[in-house]
Amino acid sequence: METVAITMAGFGNVGKAFARLVHHKHAEIMAAYGMNLKIIGISTRSHGSLNLKNGFDLATLSDFTGNFNEQNFPGGTSYRDTLEMISNSQADIFIENSPVNYENGQPAVSYITRALEKGMHAVTANKGPIVHAYAHLQELASQHGKKFLFESTVMDGAPVFSVVREALPVMHIEGFEGILNSCTNLILCRMESGESFEEAVYYAQSIGIAETDPSGDIDGWDAAVKVAALATVLLGYPSTPQDVQRQGIRSITQQDIHAARQAGKRWKLVCQAEKKEDQWLLSVSPKMIDSSSPYFSVDGTSSYILFRSDVLPGLGLLESNPSPDTTAYGMLADLLNIYRKAG
Ligand SMILES: NC(=O)c1ccc[n+]([C@@H]2O[C@H](COP(=O)([O-])OP(=O)(O)OC[C@H]3O[C@@H](n4cnc5c(N)ncnc54)[C@H](OP(=O)(O)O)[C@@H]3O)[C@@H](O)[C@H]2O)c1
Repeated sequence: METVAITMAGFGNVGKAFARLVHHKHAEIMAAYGMNLKIIGISTRSHGSLNLKNGFDLATLSDFTGNFNEQNFPGGTSYRDTLEMISNSQADIFIENSPVNYENGQPAVSYITRALEKGMHAVTANKGPIVHAYAHLQELASQHGKKFLFESTVMDGAPVFSVVREALPVMHIEGFEGILNSCTNLILCRMESGESFEEAVYYAQSIGIAETDPSGDIDGWDAAVKVAALATVLLGYPSTPQDVQRQGIRSITQQDIHAARQAGKRWKLVCQAEKKEDQWLLSVSPKMIDSSSPYFSVDGTSSYILFRSDVLPGLGLLESNPSPDTTAYGMLADLLNIYRKAG
């Protein structure tokens, strides 16, 4: 029986879902892979940073909402911040889910750097480190004989990166297109049902899909960072969200939605990478599409990507109804894939 000790940054929607999933799948993972997963460190921004040598009780952690301190977890050691916690951790793998920083990927880049330097594998759901430090982090991982994986950064738990990496040897991607932002797709669908833009945004906020300040989604930043992450990793074209031609959905009116419906079409926020005269053109923009498009019927919070390649002219992946639970699964799958390979 191999024990795999996990330390985590971020215990919000995804971090909590990850802890619940580790608890739920613990016995199955022991039986299938002979691995005993233990969470031995958790850090947050304002709820403490704590290492607990023998591991948190997974059942307790599954619905824990308090502070990570020595009062709540006797025997634990508190730290000032995440970097200090990682530096003092004996974990085998670092699971990173702090909020995305579109500008420079920090502090997640520093956290992952420190974890790899400490000899841990690293897994993140955070797109910032991919678009701002992918080459550096991969190089560092390989210098230390460790893995750095990031499946959940695009399309939550759907295997976008791993399917290309593992199942499609010598395939050359010639472009991709799709719907990669759940929030804007939901808003456009609600507007088709008659809601105003403001009502649809309010609904998305009320169910936790849109943030209090929804501009990251509505103005296309989240979609752009995903396009940049895909381009960086799968096209070998290092890009930041600032390199993506970006237009959000603020300009789409009820009249636009109605006119599209009358013509048997729909508005979608389309993410695209296409080659023009040997140059990659990356874009996010609202487009009116017709029923011949493979993502015409992608509704609500679902997402879709279509790859065009030299060997498969069109390969599509659809993810229905994502949630923090599906994101957590992408991270657990990364972890298991690292150890299944190493074994
Ligand atoms: N939600 C999804 O379904 C989804 C899907 C795909 C990818 N992601 C990515 O997953 C990551 C986490 O998302 P989430 O929805 O779980 O976010 P969230 O609910 O806002 O939780 C963020 C967590 O990170 C902690 N945190 C904030 N700043 C930090 C810092 N500087 N250092 C260490 N910890 C810090 C917060 O601590 P406090 O509680 O103390 O503030 C909180 O525990 C993000 O990068 C997001 O883009 C999320």
